[in-house]
Amino acid sequence: MAFSLDAFSLKGKVAIVTGAGARQRSIGAAYAGGLCAAGASVLVADLNGEGAKAVAKELSERGGKAIGTHVDITDPASVKRMVEAANEAFGGIDILVNNAALMVELSYKPVSATPLDEWNRLMAVNVNGALICSQAALPYMRKRGAGRIINQVSGGAFPATSGYGVSKLALVGVTTALAAELGREGITVNAIAPGNVASEAGKLSAPEPFMEMLRRTVALRPTGEPDELVGTLLLLASPAGAWITGQVIHVDGGWILRP
Ligand SMILES: NC(=O)c1ccc[n+]([C@@H]2O[C@H](COP(=O)([O-])OP(=O)(O)OC[C@H]3O[C@@H](n4cnc5c(N)ncnc54)[C@H](O)[C@@H]3O)[C@@H](O)[C@H]2O)c1
Repeated sequence: MAFSLDAFSLKGKVAIVTGAGARQRSIGAAYAGGLCAAGASVLVADLNGEGAKAVAKELSERGGKAIGTHVDITDPASVKRMVEAANEAFGGIDILVNNAALMVELSYKPVSATPLDEWNRLMAVNVNGALICSQAALPYMRKRGAGRIINQVSGGAFPATSGYGVSKLALVGVTTALAAELGREGITVNAIAPGNVASEAGKLSAPEPFMEMLRRTVALRPTGEPDELVGTLLLLASPAGAWITGQVIHVDGGWILRP
């Protein structure tokens, strides 16, 4: 059958995006906007529930179908309420975007000197949180006989030189393990690894020495806009990406090519 651009349509699909609500110009808000634009109904969820509701309201005012809710992705009971809310509002779940993470909240410490309680907190949010959300969404995807999980990792994991990088590399491992386990059920699991993105958090977590390194090593522009990640998300979430699983797509201006 000839290829049709309809393969990028998400009409009738239901998506959850975590981590879209606490800050201005967030990547999660751009993801939610792109999914709405492609026709999906979107549940926007964040630890900052009011922020998530504000993002959903803005999307609805632009003609999208979106609602917002509070979630703490480290708490299975809270995540259960999140997936139930998506199911009740929109009648199922097709797409889960595990985008929530600790990044700007972290004060830099060498891995060798990170207190164990901080380390555990980082892993609880950035690794376990995505797994808890995936496990909670799976029964709904199984009911559909298909599903898409997209995990937000980071160029900072290649190689990992910080606790944050280690957490994102662990999430790559969760991605490949779930992809291998779930492929025969029609569920794809992939990751997007952005370079430096000009979200509010991205700007706050890119001090000058880091920016200088990016200016020297990134093939294209050192910094991208949140919307520049959306095309990749839509490929991975839509029928056009049905044969892609277990992959990490680097959307980073070519930062991965650094010497
Ligand atoms: N901005 C960048 O340069 C960049 C680069 C690479 C990867 N990333 C990744 O992209 C994603 C979004 O980044 P952003 O720049 O929009 O940052 P952001 O801080 O705006 O988004 C992260 C969101 O996660 C939420 N969150 C944190 N803990 C949570 C919890 N326990 N439960 C629910 N929500 C929780 C925060 O409230 C926040 O809204 C993150 O996964 C980040 O690691 C960002």
